[in-house]
Amino acid sequence: MVIVMAAGATASDIQAIVSVVQSAGGEAFVSRGVSRIIIGLVGDVDRFATLNLVGMRGVANVTRISAKFKLVSREHHSQRSSVRVGEVSIGPDTVTLIAGPCAVETPEQTLLAARMAQAAGATLLRGGAFKPRTSPYAFQGLGERGLRILAEVREETGLPIVTEVVGAHDVDMVASYADMLQVGTRNMQNFPLLQAVGSAGKPVMLKRGMNATIEEWLMAAEYIAQRGNLDIVLCERGIRTFETATRNTLDISAVPVAQRLSHLPVVVDPSHSGGRRDLVLPLSRAAIVAGADGLIVDVHPDPDIALCDGPQALVAEDLHVLARTLEDLAGFMGRRLS
Ligand code: E4P
Ligand code: PEP
Repeated sequence: MVIVMAAGATASDIQAIVSVVQSAGGEAFVSRGVSRIIIGLVGDVDRFATLNLVGMRGVANVTRISAKFKLVSREHHSQRSSVRVGEVSIGPDTVTLIAGPCAVETPEQTLLAARMAQAAGATLLRGGAFKPRTSPYAFQGLGERGLRILAEVREETGLPIVTEVVGAHDVDMVASYADMLQVGTRNMQNFPLLQAVGSAGKPVMLKRGMNATIEEWLMAAEYIAQRGNLDIVLCERGIRTFETATRNTLDISAVPVAQRLSHLPVVVDPSHSGGRRDLVLPLSRAAIVAGADGLIVDVHPDPDIALCDGPQALVAEDLHVLARTLEDLAGFMGRRLS
């Protein structure tokens, strides 16, 4: 069962509901989004039905949810949600371009990549300081030093930072630098990590597990929402299939499917899905026309010497072409570039 609070609901209205639910032996999880507060109830639904919750102050509506995921479900949301990162809104009216280096390597490389991103029109800077690598011998990222570099580059450029956190124990530290926390494909079902980012008070980008179904992805988002955070952006980044011509297979149908099942925004990562620079533009075009709310793209000032994922990184001219294409396609889709 889910309670959607009215716009003017107060803290005491919410507390009153939590108390009533608890006294009926249930649990109430309060999640705050940009425009609404939702309370997810866990417990005996028939008992809740006797509580006249709909008549309580501040309640807009009460819905019995049949979907397995309740807080992120589209079932009780006629409108899709927007998520705000700094001044940037990711949602149904816009196409957001997030760009930056796969990994933070040096202050110079990060600033150059950020300047490339900004010159093309990107409004959020991506960059990994903690890199989840297949090989323990591969570059693992600069850790907190990388986060300090990102913070300096944010100071220089004004671009808010999207950066990955790989372990629950690091969430508070990473959140103290980041504007948006990224949970990567390899950690999509790291439940303690999901709960920790749900409590961190920062928007979250949740990448789809490379072996996960859409339902598993939404259940993972539910873990974050259940901890009180509805500022979640889903990111389709390609899944494992039998095909080896690309690094992963971009599941383009996941965009409209996830948007129909969930009110959360959905962006696409054409860099990690294709794994090749020449595929980023065509995959991006497909993503935007399929309805994606934005893209997250790797860029590098000198991809040949990149310490991580150089073959998929765009250089300045590629990014410029991509951004102009996005502008056109955003207009075609009745949106604007943000
Ligand atoms: C980059 O963002 C990831 O850490 C990278 O794609 C991991 O892949 P790899 O370690 O298999 O190269
Ligand atoms: C990344 O975006 O840096 C990353 C590691 O992506 P993914 O988790 O999708 O592989």
